[in-house]
Amino acid sequence: MTTFAKMAMTSSFTPTTSTTTLSIFFSLFLILGVAISQAEARAFFVFGDSLVDSGNNNYLATTARADSPPYGIDYPTRRATGRFSNGFNIPDIISQQIGSSESPLPYLSPELNGQRLLVGANFASAGIGILNDTGIQFINIVRIPQQLEYFRQYQSRVSALIGEASTKQLVNQALVLVTLGGNDFVNNYYLVPNSARSRQYALPDYVPFLISEYRKILMRLYNLGARRVLVTGTGPLGCVPAELAQRSRNGECAVELQRAAALFNPQLTQMLQDLNSQLGSNIFIAANTQQMHIDFITNPQAYGFITSKVACCGQGPYNGLGLCTPLSNLCPNRDLFAFWDPFHPSERANKIIVQQIMTGSSEYMNPMNLSTILAMDSMA
Ligand SMILES: *[C@@H]1O[C@H](CO)[C@@H](O)[C@H](O)[C@H]1NC(C)=O
Ligand SMILES: *[C@@H]1O[C@H](CO)[C@@H](O)[C@H](O)[C@H]1NC(C)=O
Repeated sequence: MTTFAKMAMTSSFTPTTSTTTLSIFFSLFLILGVAISQAEARAFFVFGDSLVDSGNNNYLATTARADSPPYGIDYPTRRATGRFSNGFNIPDIISQQIGSSESPLPYLSPELNGQRLLVGANFASAGIGILNDTGIQFINIVRIPQQLEYFRQYQSRVSALIGEASTKQLVNQALVLVTLGGNDFVNNYYLVPNSARSRQYALPDYVPFLISEYRKILMRLYNLGARRVLVTGTGPLGCVPAELAQRSRNGECAVELQRAAALFNPQLTQMLQDLNSQLGSNIFIAANTQQMHIDFITNPQAYGFITSKVACCGQGPYNGLGLCTPLSNLCPNRDLFAFWDPFHPSERANKIIVQQIMTGSSEYMNPMNLSTILAMDSMA
């Protein structure tokens, strides 16, 4: 039974409590307690790429998918769900930290309906970027304008359920996560030598172009009602096993992609600061995922990893070539690897990242960490 079914039950029982037995009273009390604590958890919305996709691409005709083993090998069901992880991904772990009853379902999931909509929704789609021409080789993916359109559609569906005013409140009070940008380099600018974008822009000009497009996306999100938005930067793009396999001679991080990340991330933080001052409020929170990754890439042993260079699942040098499939090499203990597949962190690395999002200093979280936000918002 879902929480919301329990809530409905509770309210239909309430008028008769005075005539019920003590044991029924106590079970009602328990049900009510659960219902209230879960109703208080804020909604959670997720936008972005494969780092945060929880399965939307399962419903699309695309090659960018994680719906077969060994993906999900450490997920509670031990099944591939569409998450690009051996277990939980970053949105799952954030959901747990903010006390949600469950992770928001993929927006395209047929199970996302009725009261379940009130938990939030995950609009992310593997392969997409800031730009519409990013990930074109994946054909049928939900690009960011469509993710935002679905968010608008979501709000009218929720309005039909709880009314317009309550929907606006639910959205305004929600936590939002946006993860974009990595694919605009890996699956666009650097996808092939002499790509169209690299002929159009030198890297120092491409980055400001991306940032100005990103700014428009975030303003659209604001106009759709988002008021607390965590925005992650890219990781150290040149250090992932896929790039080590293709571009590195001795295991050093690939220079060009490192240069891209080093340009992109500080300009992103600056843009978010500018937006906040323009809006007169700390709407956008920058998560320095580059630094978070660098910590465990520089000193994997300090974080309990045996390597940050070799992916757990894959083939070729660093297990970095091709995709993670049932035929790939697979490490026996995923917790010992910082990277699950050639591009994506393991569940344990995701937990370390979310820990920093929760409690990190201003070097990691700007202008503040998520635990500070939760404390502030609970007092508001
Ligand atoms: C991306 O596509 C959408 C519609 O699919 C369009 O409205 C938008 O202007 C495009 N963005 C850019 C930067 O071309
Ligand atoms: C979170 O941010 C606050 C304010 O910057 C800081 O004082 C605190 O140490 C950080 N960590 C935790 C656990 O709150």
